[in-house]
Amino acid sequence: MRLSEAEIAVHWKEEAHFRPLSKFIGQANLTDPAVMERFSEKNYPECFREYADLLTWDQYWTKTLDTSNAPFFKWFVGGKLNVSYNCIDRHLEKYGTKAAIVWVSEDENEPDIVLTYNELYARVNEMAALLRDFAGLKTGDRITIHMPMVPELPITMLACARLGIIHSVVFGGFSGEACGARIVDSGSHVLVTMDGYYRSGKLLDHKINADIAVKKAESEGQKVEKVLVWKRFHDKVSSPTAMVAGRDFFVQDELKKFRGARVAPVSMPAEAPLFLMYTSGSTGKPKGCQHSTGGYLAYVTATSKWIQDIHPTDMYWCMADIGWITGHSYIVYGPLALAGTSVMYEGVPTFPDAGRPWRIAERLGVNIFHTSPTAIRMLRKLGPDEPNKYNLNFKCMTTVGEPIEPEAWLWYYHTVGRGKAAITDTWWQTENGGFLCSTKPAIDEMKPGSAGPPMPGIYPVIFDEHGKEIPAGSGKAGNICIRAPWPGQFQTIWGDPDRFVKNYFAKYNKDPKSKRWQDWPYFAGDGAVWAADGYIRILGRVDDVINVAGHRLGTKELESACLTVPEVAEAAVVPIVDEERGRVPEVYIAIKPGVKTDPKEVAAKVTSAIETTIGKIARPRAVRIVPDMPKTRSGKIMRRVLASISNHMDYGDITTLSNPEVVEQIRVQVQGTGPVEKKTAPEDIRRFGETT
Ligand code: PRX
Repeated sequence: MRLSEAEIAVHWKEEAHFRPLSKFIGQANLTDPAVMERFSEKNYPECFREYADLLTWDQYWTKTLDTSNAPFFKWFVGGKLNVSYNCIDRHLEKYGTKAAIVWVSEDENEPDIVLTYNELYARVNEMAALLRDFAGLKTGDRITIHMPMVPELPITMLACARLGIIHSVVFGGFSGEACGARIVDSGSHVLVTMDGYYRSGKLLDHKINADIAVKKAESEGQKVEKVLVWKRFHDKVSSPTAMVAGRDFFVQDELKKFRGARVAPVSMPAEAPLFLMYTSGSTGKPKGCQHSTGGYLAYVTATSKWIQDIHPTDMYWCMADIGWITGHSYIVYGPLALAGTSVMYEGVPTFPDAGRPWRIAERLGVNIFHTSPTAIRMLRKLGPDEPNKYNLNFKCMTTVGEPIEPEAWLWYYHTVGRGKAAITDTWWQTENGGFLCSTKPAIDEMKPGSAGPPMPGIYPVIFDEHGKEIPAGSGKAGNICIRAPWPGQFQTIWGDPDRFVKNYFAKYNKDPKSKRWQDWPYFAGDGAVWAADGYIRILGRVDDVINVAGHRLGTKELESACLTVPEVAEAAVVPIVDEERGRVPEVYIAIKPGVKTDPKEVAAKVTSAIETTIGKIARPRAVRIVPDMPKTRSGKIMRRVLASISNHMDYGDITTLSNPEVVEQIRVQVQGTGPVEKKTAPEDIRRFGETT
């Protein structure tokens, strides 16, 4: 029988705590330890007024939290505001000539682009005019943006926000097909893209992905009327892919007609959707997480202020991609709402060498740095001493996206941060808008490997499979849930409210008719342990989602890509532990009976099918052609067994399988004929695929 989470004891060494320096505390935005008292449950939900008060409202709200249609919670009801106004216009008087965005090309010979708030204002207004008057978009329409890390991306997003157009930014590294699927789901008629961009020293043709995306969308009945193509270089075209007459337009050419245009920011209800961000779940189709205008902006502004400790005078660099939620919240909306200076980097962190980020940081005087454990591991592996060659002065540094192991944490702290920077490990998800657990950098001690205590106003609970609470300090793992809604929480899954309720709330809801938030704990889908000291350690996903380099990939999405190869009868994808990227997918394939083929050829076809439907980020470590899949008597593929074999662990009890003999065959194929290997497995791998 399978163990419940509550029964799985987790053993790890308790790490020493580190204290922030008084120099940091002296200048920090949040130093008052009474904050937790102010945000305690007795003051909920009104405590979140403090967040909303950081914004400029056209009309103040009348109700802080409306639970009447739980779990579709509404924040700051009756309030009206505009996000672009809050991120730009309101700063012009005081900070107009200060840098809002500093963009760094991957090519070290290309000059930076610095956009002051005045310049950002002008460019966002012109783009908004173009979207409205040339592309015919209006408030409430959706638009898909498939762009690399260039200043034109936040300009386009903010132009949408100015008009209340709902943007759906698709990570630039995703394939044209993946983009097309998101165009269909969001019902976009306009796609904004760029002709090309640099990646590892190569100027890639990106326009070609737009053609694939439009074709894919149209094959599923979604017509794209206009494709707006930004030019990577203003004076030349960077893609050999032809423009389609009447459909494709270069943005710079059209913008000439809108020079000097000004567009009044549309006053939006706090509850209006600001954007969609697609993320993977345990079923095939990506979920369009719908984020709100008022609640979202309030939440990312406050957390950028308190946790990232952004002041207008700081040089802040979040080395993520805007195509993920981290970039939306902590490159664009949070920092700009605070009149911060946000650095954007176009390319690969290790290009042309592992000293690149540190050169950028030194040259620009970056004092706040935000990145992922994967980037830290990679930079450490390729250039452990590189940071020492540069004059680095970080006051605080954060990590996000995956658990960070203490060893990598210590390198980050000592070598990159010189033992001076306060480090926060921020746990949250695409669905959450902003941080859920993190230390408060000037208040809490740091503990390597643990995300830390909950954020103010966030009340976690760890449940076992049956809804019984696992108390802090018990050393037992369980499913982490958040008991009460918070303003940054997504509003629904675009077009699929039932899936929203089912995926995130049904598991621990006892009364589906309840209008009390107390009855709707949010199920995050992560395993976690709550230590006696109040720090939460996140163990990884409990569903069959693979976290690759801090980004969620749905197993079912990968498997459906494999099934597009005609020879493939069955496919199973499992995560394997990877030193740098956390987890990477490995694929098992069974070939259709009677089909004679070269296994190597099929493996190559499978890899290419995955790259085409999802993108290179999903490239499997290995594709293994096996005689049959291990299955339960009801025919379900036992991914847990395959995951154990791939990770050289004991595969446990297989007596309930309908074909146990195949397990040994597969094991020998993967591990060789030696004795069964018995490495210990991380939690997410031991339980992989068991909960769905
Ligand atoms: O498993 C958790 C892991 O990343 C998942 C969320 O992925 P995504 O929606 O792509 O958002 C990533 C950036 C917010 C979570 O369910 N995760 C995220 N941050 C941490 C983490 N695991 C451990 N520690 C973290 N700090």
